[in-house]
Amino acid sequence: MEQPTFSKGLEGVVAASSDICNIDGNAGKLYYRGYSIEDLARHSSFEEVTFLLLNEHLPTKTELEDFQGKMRKSRALNPEIREMIRNFPAEGKPMELLQAVISYLSGYVEHKIQHSAFCDCRITLHQVVQLASVVATYQRLKEGKEYVEPDPTLSHGGNFLYMMRGKKPEDYEDRIMDVCLLLHAEHGFNASTFTARVVASTVSTCYSSISAAIGALSGPLHGGANEEVLKMLDKIGSVKKVDGWFAKAIENKQKIMGYGHRVYKTKDPRAVIIEGFLKELSEKKNDFRDYDILKKLEAKALEVLSTKDNPVYPNVDFFSGSVFKLLGIPPYLFTPIFAIGRVPGWLAHILEQRKDNRLYRPKSLYHGPDPRPYVLTEDR
Ligand SMILES: CC(C)(COP(=O)(O)OP(=O)(O)OC[C@H]1O[C@@H](n2cnc3c(N)ncnc32)[C@H](O)[C@@H]1OP(=O)(O)O)[C@@H](O)C(=O)NCCC(=O)NCCS
Repeated sequence: MEQPTFSKGLEGVVAASSDICNIDGNAGKLYYRGYSIEDLARHSSFEEVTFLLLNEHLPTKTELEDFQGKMRKSRALNPEIREMIRNFPAEGKPMELLQAVISYLSGYVEHKIQHSAFCDCRITLHQVVQLASVVATYQRLKEGKEYVEPDPTLSHGGNFLYMMRGKKPEDYEDRIMDVCLLLHAEHGFNASTFTARVVASTVSTCYSSISAAIGALSGPLHGGANEEVLKMLDKIGSVKKVDGWFAKAIENKQKIMGYGHRVYKTKDPRAVIIEGFLKELSEKKNDFRDYDILKKLEAKALEVLSTKDNPVYPNVDFFSGSVFKLLGIPPYLFTPIFAIGRVPGWLAHILEQRKDNRLYRPKSLYHGPDPRPYVLTEDR
C-alpha cells in the first residue's frame, strides 16, 4: 500500500481549490478575485471590496449604494454588547473580547432569519461590520470615555477612527485607514482562513467559524509582527543608530521584524502601498522618525539580506505599525485591526466552502506505543 505523505505545517499541501485570492509570490502581486491590490487601493473602498469578496463581482453603482447603506446601518452596537465590552476584564486581551462578541452576535440576527449554516449570512452583515465598532468602543471605554454613535457619512475605516477618537478624522486619515483595512481583507489559505474553512466544513455557523479564525489570528506567529516592528524602532531610537544596530542584529543572527514571508520572494505589494501612506502621514504630522529609520533599515537590509540564497524583503507589517501609530492607534489594537480587515475574506471562504463542502479530515502518522495490556491500579 502506498505510504501517506507527511508535510509539517501542511507546507506545500493543496487543501482546496478557490476562486478568491491569487498571490504571485515571485512577482510580488496580489489579486482579489482577479483585481490587483494596486487598482483596488487606488480606486476602491473597504465596503466595495467586501461586496466583491462576498459576491464574486464588483458592484454596480446601485448595488454599491445598497450594500454600503446596509453595512453602515449595521455599525451601531446595541446596549447589551456595549455592556459586555464595559464588563470585559481590564487585563483581558481585545482579541478574546472579539471572539466572545462574535459568538454573542449570533443571538442578534436581524430580519428574523433562521440562523443556521444554511442561511445566507450576507443578509446580516453585522458579523463583518461590528468588529470595527467593538474595537473602537473597547478603546473608548478603556480610556474612561463614552460610546460614540457611528457616523454614516464616513468610510468603514474613517468611522472606526471616529468611534475610537470621538472626533472626525481628516479626509486623508479616513482614506488611509480604509485602504489599510482593504489591504488586509484577504490573503489566501493562511492559518486563520484555513481555520475558518475547517470549522465551516463541519456545517457550523459563520459566527463560530469567524470566532475560531480570530483565535487563530491571535497567536504571535500569525498577527502582531507590526507591534514588534514598533518595539524594534524604539530600540533603534534614531536614524543615526541604524548602521550600528543592524550590524549587531546580523552578527547575532537576529530576525528583522517586518521582514521575510512564506509566500513573497520580493517586497510585499501591500508594503509598497503602506510605505506611501507612512510618507504621507509623516509629512502631514511632521514626524519622520519612523519613516526615516525604516527606509535606512530597508536600504541596509537590501545590501545584506537580498543577496543571500534565501533573500528576504519587507512584508505588510514593516510600515503598517508606524502608520497606525501616527493615526493615534495604540499597538495592542494592531492585531484586532488585522481582524477587522480580514473578516470579509474569512466570510468569503466560509461561503465558498459551503458551496462544495467536504468535511476536513486529514490523517496523522501514528508513532505511539504498540497495543499493550491495561494494568490495574494496584498492580502498577
Ligand atoms: C515570516 C517568517 C516566519 C517566514 O519564515 P520562513 O518562510 O520560514 O523563512 P525562514 O525562517 O526559513 O528564513 C529563510 C532565511 O531568511 C532568513 N530570514 C527570514 N526572515 C528574516 C528576517 N526577518 N530577518 C533576517 N533574516 C531573515 C532566515 O534566517 C533564513 O536564513 P538562512 O537561509 O540563512 O537560514 C520569517 O521571515 C520571520 O520570522 N519574519 C519576522 C517576523 C515577521 O515579520 N512576521 C510577519 C510575517 S507577515
